[in-house]
Amino acid sequence: MTRVVVLLSGRGSNFRAIAEAGLPIEIAAVISNRPQAAGLAWARERGIPATALDHTEYADRAVFDARLADEIERHRPDLVVLAGYMRILSAAFIARFEGRLLNIHPSLLPMFPGLKTHERALAEGVKVHGCTVHFVTADLDHGPIVIQAAVPVRADDTPETLAARVLAQEHRIYPQAVRWFAEGRLAIRDGRVNLQDDSTSQSVLVPEG
Ligand code: GAR
Repeated sequence: MTRVVVLLSGRGSNFRAIAEAGLPIEIAAVISNRPQAAGLAWARERGIPATALDHTEYADRAVFDARLADEIERHRPDLVVLAGYMRILSAAFIARFEGRLLNIHPSLLPMFPGLKTHERALAEGVKVHGCTVHFVTADLDHGPIVIQAAVPVRADDTPETLAARVLAQEHRIYPQAVRWFAEGRLAIRDGRVNLQDDSTSQSVLVPEG
């Protein structure tokens, strides 16, 4: 079984989608930098080890990230999943987990890295928006792309309605990406992800539908 540690900061709906997808993984621990994160409470109710590490109690990012990395490694993960983890990670942290660190981002990267992606997509007038699962590298929101889902933008969309439709797709693609990782099917070459043994010719782009 692939041992997974999940990092989150809030609601935890992507964590729940992964936990409930029947994947060949063991969620060894959930860790949040926010003690009140709903995702932590959900994990505890299900007997999944859940830890809060409050970043406000640490002197700076380097000290916090070193403590966080030690806590993660205690659980001997094969994979670390960022599921709405809303803090920038230091380069030293990323180097410790590179190649086994996934993130989900609510846009079709490399468009709209950073925050407020749905507002920015609407302001630009893009007709297609979406979400991306990617390996994390030191280059913020620019690591090798594993899978993306496209979501058509409607004329009457608000950031909230668009976010809701994108989130529904996040809940499809993140479990899929974790499954591929657990099956050993994700190879990174020249900064790009190759999906191995793709005999079903499953597309890496999953349009809404
Ligand atoms: C998700 O929409 C995720 O894509 C986003 O935060 C939300 C977390 O929701 N992540 C980022 O913006 C990372 N830069 P969740 O806690 O319900 O999974």
